[in-house]
Amino acid sequence: LVLILDYGSQYTHLITRRVRQLGVLSLCVSGTAPLAALEGLRPRAIVLSGGPHSVHATGAPTFPEGFLDFADGAGAHVLGVCYGMQLLVQSLGGAVEPGERQEYGKMNVEVTASSSALYGEAETGKRQTVWMSHGDEVVKLPEGFEVVARSVQGAVAAIENQEKRFYGLQYHPEVTHSPQGMETLRRFLFDVCGIKADWKMQDVLDEEIKTIQSMVDPDEHVICALSGGVDSTVAATLVHKAIGDRLHCVFVDNGLLRYKERERVMSTFESDLHLPVTCVDASEQFLSKLKGVEDPEQKRKIIGREFIAVFDDFAHKLEQKIGKRPEYLVQGTLYPDVIESCPPPGSGRTHSHTIKSHHNVGGLPKDMKLKLIEPLKLLFKDEVRKLGSILDVPDSFLKRHPFPGPGLAVRVLGDVTKGNALDTLRQVDEIFVQAIKDAGLYDKIWQAFAVFLPVQTVGVQGDQRTHSNAVVLRAITSEDGMTADWYYFGHEFLVDVVNKICNNVRGINRVCQDITSKPPATVEWE
Ligand code: XMP
Repeated sequence: LVLILDYGSQYTHLITRRVRQLGVLSLCVSGTAPLAALEGLRPRAIVLSGGPHSVHATGAPTFPEGFLDFADGAGAHVLGVCYGMQLLVQSLGGAVEPGERQEYGKMNVEVTASSSALYGEAETGKRQTVWMSHGDEVVKLPEGFEVVARSVQGAVAAIENQEKRFYGLQYHPEVTHSPQGMETLRRFLFDVCGIKADWKMQDVLDEEIKTIQSMVDPDEHVICALSGGVDSTVAATLVHKAIGDRLHCVFVDNGLLRYKERERVMSTFESDLHLPVTCVDASEQFLSKLKGVEDPEQKRKIIGREFIAVFDDFAHKLEQKIGKRPEYLVQGTLYPDVIESCPPPGSGRTHSHTIKSHHNVGGLPKDMKLKLIEPLKLLFKDEVRKLGSILDVPDSFLKRHPFPGPGLAVRVLGDVTKGNALDTLRQVDEIFVQAIKDAGLYDKIWQAFAVFLPVQTVGVQGDQRTHSNAVVLRAITSEDGMTADWYYFGHEFLVDVVNKICNNVRGINRVCQDITSKPPATVEWE
């Protein structure tokens, strides 16, 4: 196991992913979590992430108390990255100061040791390009440390104390802008720490199945909310493999689904998946509770509550049928939801549920009766897709773009029940996504959708002035939804889509494209 302590860098989750890509399980924990949160874990390596702070700033995050003894006791090798390296240096008696030169972006570093743990038997003076992002720099090493690389400007770029198992990189080996970074991580994990690459999706699957079988008694039943998306479909298929037909799936039409989604999803569940699914039409129930509600947080909370009310009701009806109340609810929660819900205090990142209550983590009511089974909660989306293909989940599910639990409610800004907003959005969204499929771009894009703006603008259609709504098209590429770039379609595609929208959807006279990446924006508008 490799433990990543998060000090708030936007790249922390990338370190977690890179380690997994090398075939080693890694878990990310807030860098200021109490030591108790780490106990029981026996990491062979601990990576201290970067972070936005200076170690001298008031409130700058620091190790959990007793961390260095814990690492020593576990025999773990500790690698500090950027802020993580500076924290390590400062804590061990070295010195970090605001640098004469700040280094941001691509930079060349030069190996200064003929033999080192991090670079092996490298030629002294050998250069590599790396990604730097620091204002402070290490000016005095703690005892027993050696500089093994410097930037061409002279700043300390890599240090190590092999005897004490401490290492540091001032640059970010986890980002693709450090082309040899993966090789350095590989060397660190396999050659320095002696870790084996033995984390395989098949093992994750076997392990999860065993866990679920031991958790759920043989006479207990489980319900699963199936949305038709990748996560819940893979989660349901996995749980079905573990407990067979004691799993009961429910698909909820909450009135916030996309164009013809209910019919399409139900028919694919039947033809491709062969899972027993009940469809519940709860659209009236959701929409009546959302009437007049404008605040995005409020909307998410209401939707979370209504989902649970529907599941409770489904469980109750099932109890009458099978004579036993189901105890568990399966959810397709993913690792980014878990990480984003617990960033380190002082990291500058806020709890995501104060940004947005993802209904499958932050928005669940505290008095919920059902216990949760979340078999994917340690996985990233691409890992879930791999797991799904081992489970023979068809590509028609695995390749679907993510769709948020609160559905179109987070894409119709403001009151979703006002006028014809939901239906209008459905038509625009369908035209946009269908055009993407027709152009063969669907699999290249992480997510594409339309957003309905509660603003009316003046237009001119058929020689008449109109006063109609505006919509926004958003398409992004991403590896895991935590950071994203907007997708560049080019002129022709957009002209065609905008024409189709304005000519076919009543009530829309203006189409915009969102060209903001995440950060600073989020994927969804609410
Ligand atoms: P944001 O908007 O937070 O979205 O950048 C990141 C990813 O999460 C999806 N998303 C949600 N998924 N419940 C979900 O199940 C939610 O409340 C929710 N909000 C956002 C979003 O579509 C994107 O893929």
